[in-house]
Amino acid sequence: RTLDSRTLESVATFIKNGHARKIVVMTGAGISTSAGIPDFRSPDTGIYANLAQLNLPYAEAVFDISYFRNNPLPFYTLAQELYPGKYRPTITHSFINLLYQKGLLLKLFTQNIDCLEREAGVPGDVIVEAHGSFARQSCVECKHPYPQDLMQKAIHEKSVPTCLECNGLVKPEIVFFGEQLPTEFFANRGLPVEADLCIVMGTSLSVQPFASLPEFCSQGTPRVLINQERVGTMGSRSDDVLILGDCDGGVRKLAEACGWLEELNELWAK
Ligand code: OAD
Repeated sequence: RTLDSRTLESVATFIKNGHARKIVVMTGAGISTSAGIPDFRSPDTGIYANLAQLNLPYAEAVFDISYFRNNPLPFYTLAQELYPGKYRPTITHSFINLLYQKGLLLKLFTQNIDCLEREAGVPGDVIVEAHGSFARQSCVECKHPYPQDLMQKAIHEKSVPTCLECNGLVKPEIVFFGEQLPTEFFANRGLPVEADLCIVMGTSLSVQPFASLPEFCSQGTPRVLINQERVGTMGSRSDDVLILGDCDGGVRKLAEACGWLEELNELWAK
């Protein structure tokens, strides 16, 4: 139950031989860039490189809860760009759905707030949205929920919504720096130990505690990185496989080697 070599082909053989029946997938913004959503840290195209007009003290302040409490406008200036609804899932999202359809997906851990995994067909109970999502919003003071339609209006108008109960600031329930991750993350973070294959895609693995998730995989469990660049500790274990380049190309090649390419294309075209 080990890989013959640290190559894409041996990962495919491992899957075809039935050794990967409990796959954990860990994703980040890089799986959605080909959908048209910028990632955060890519040097020229990432969100953090393009915030000059917001006059932030440092780029990540736009998602920092202390900064937001004093100055919520930069976040609401950016929110329109990130708000779900106008983007289509990529073939990488469909690949995750294909793993689910084949009964091979143990869990998807995502840092993304674009909801494209759900849109691709992966059911909500298989997904851990580690950094929350735009699905709900509430007051940062009294925690009272805020209506979705009013939030959509505020985001559209780039205005700052306030609580209907206490007039406090309202924020989508995406996890800002300085906020706790959802309990769901902590309840599931040990799950990778049960996995027989781990696939990490489209993330710089630079934000904790998510960045440590691949460490929870057992020694000897193959970990595959499909990403533009090498990140975190991926590649440091003897069963790690690096597939460097764009995710869509990487999953296509992996699907092809598994004999699934046609199925994947059909799923994506739906
Ligand atoms: P990053 O922007 O930090 O990393 C994206 C990674 O994907 C980088 O390693 C890119 O090289 C790679 N990448 C981009 N496009 C790609 C493509 N088409 N194919 C393959 N690789 C590609 O994004 P995350 O790791 O998701 O948190 O960032 C983590 C967290 O930092 C986010 O959830 C967000 C941010 O601050 C919060 O806002 C709380």
